[in-house]
Amino acid sequence: MTSKFGNEPFMFNKDLGRSVKATDQHFTLSDADGNPVIPLTQEQKYIFDTKGWLLVPGVLSSNQLDSMKEFITQLHTNLESVPDYKRSPLGGPTQSLSDHPVALGFLNEFVYLPYTDGRGRPLANQNCYGYRLEMSAYRYRIKGQGSFGPHNGNGQMRFPGDHHTYHCLPGKANAGLVRAIWELMPVNEGSGGTIFISGSHKSAFTAPESAYDPNSLLWETYTCPAGSVLFFSEAVTHSAVTWNAVHPRIAVLNSYNSIGGRWHNWEPHPRLMAEMPPLRQTLFRSVHVSENLVG
Ligand SMILES: [Fe+2]
Repeated sequence: MTSKFGNEPFMFNKDLGRSVKATDQHFTLSDADGNPVIPLTQEQKYIFDTKGWLLVPGVLSSNQLDSMKEFITQLHTNLESVPDYKRSPLGGPTQSLSDHPVALGFLNEFVYLPYTDGRGRPLANQNCYGYRLEMSAYRYRIKGQGSFGPHNGNGQMRFPGDHHTYHCLPGKANAGLVRAIWELMPVNEGSGGTIFISGSHKSAFTAPESAYDPNSLLWETYTCPAGSVLFFSEAVTHSAVTWNAVHPRIAVLNSYNSIGGRWHNWEPHPRLMAEMPPLRQTLFRSVHVSENLVG
């Protein structure tokens, strides 16, 4: 197997235990605007698999940030000024975050599985992504907003259908339902970014009492400049905390899942979807596997 997306390990394909034979062409290699996907580095893969979350700092330029912050602020403070069908982070310049090359590199590695459907075709190609975007929302938090609400964990011990799953075999992992949080403002450790119990996506034990204290050393978080992206498996124990910086937290949250699975009850407006480039539209195709291909 020769793919740069790292499926050298033996992985069962659909029929009779034969192995997946994937090449780069089994993965979508460009975004909807033709920009090449940026694969995760070996270090990024290791960090995400070990901790259940991964921060990629400083991805967006200041020009991109300015227009994105302006649009999210408009959604938050003057919703009526935005046409009805554009009232989500997909309705403005933040739409491009949905298939940003850095996000696609993460999704190709930890959400998409390059096995084939009953007709022997892989579940992605150059016209069709191998995952769905099942929810896009924003956060606009000022000082004092947001509260501790720890949830999830133990993903490796859960059955399919739960969606808060994490499964791995030597050299390959699948993170189930995942989130990409694009931080459009700086986040300093302790100022209210998302917090995690690293490694809890693989935990075999019930969380101890100390997990219910946000100040416990079990919890970890991050510092990052504006324009960073945070990926995490919903299977890792995580929580919001109260935002206490002077500037607001402005963030876009995109949730992804396999093409055959869905947790959220959310869809973009049909008119908005129809106006997207064709490849981006495949993020919103129906929820099933068999013959669910474009192109
Ligand atoms: Fe969550």
